[in-house]
Amino acid sequence: MPEPLRSRYGGPLEIPLRTDRPSVIANFVTTLDGIVAFGQGDLAGGGLVSGNFEPDRFVMALLRAVADVVVIGAGTLRGSSRQRWVAEHVDPADADLFRDWRRSMGLAAHPTTVVVTASGSIPLDHPGLNDAAIPVVVATTAAGAARISTATRSHRSVEVLGDGERVRPDEIVGLTRKLGARLVLTEGGPHLLGELVEADLLDELFLTLAPQLAGRADERRLGLVEGLALPPGRTRWEELRSAKRAGDHLFLRYARRSREH
Ligand SMILES: NC(=O)c1ccc[n+]([C@@H]2O[C@H](COP(=O)([O-])OP(=O)(O)OC[C@H]3O[C@@H](n4cnc5c(N)ncnc54)[C@H](OP(=O)(O)O)[C@@H]3O)[C@@H](O)[C@H]2O)c1
Repeated sequence: MPEPLRSRYGGPLEIPLRTDRPSVIANFVTTLDGIVAFGQGDLAGGGLVSGNFEPDRFVMALLRAVADVVVIGAGTLRGSSRQRWVAEHVDPADADLFRDWRRSMGLAAHPTTVVVTASGSIPLDHPGLNDAAIPVVVATTAAGAARISTATRSHRSVEVLGDGERVRPDEIVGLTRKLGARLVLTEGGPHLLGELVEADLLDELFLTLAPQLAGRADERRLGLVEGLALPPGRTRWEELRSAKRAGDHLFLRYARRSREH
């Protein structure tokens, strides 16, 4: 890890790589009460949750910088109009350091963006899907592929996974393995995260806690994990790997506990 990045992070960033499948990590920012999105449109972005806090953008950049693949659900794509899922998008000042670091680790210039959609209803003109330097794979169903296959471009491909109405989480991880990935970062959103948690495929969670309380009175305010309600006894207990602080924000890193509580 280049020294300027290491000292800014406050130590090394070492993420264990599994041997049986790619390691899967997630990065989210929530309010103190667990909200990840205030709504749709102008209210959708994570910037409102973090307060556009620069150290949070730095951690996002670091994790993108070490990932082979960044997986996002179509809701996250539709909720962000400008994002490109590469380190320098969130931390342009360190672009050269990220490039050299990836090269030294033998990684491709940029992580591949994998977009998961059942419907195939995705904004193909989104900037995150239209940078020829950033490979994109759309992981979808047969019905979804029928909707988008005519619009593929050279850096972009469509993969039909399985024959169901949805894509199974293990098929998503299988796809990343086929792409040669060893480390997969998901930036959500909460529905995709819920599926990974349910399938017990999430190895680590990088969670930024933003010091604000937001509340929730309807389903448009999303929590960290959506579409899933594990009963006590079947919840996923995690162990704390590190806790860092910048101002009043906390940067927590949790790994899946090998032994149940
Ligand atoms: N604060 C944070 O850290 C953070 C992080 C990420 C996202 N967010 C916010 O969360 C919001 C989006 O939330 P979300 O839960 O709707 O997003 P999401 O999980 O990214 O998207 C859900 C959509 O992804 C597709 N999908 C997910 N799992 C699938 C599967 N197994 N098979 C096929 N398709 C699958 C489906 O797309 P189709 O409908 O196309 O079939 C589904 O409707 C946005 O506002 C975003 O800004 C916040």
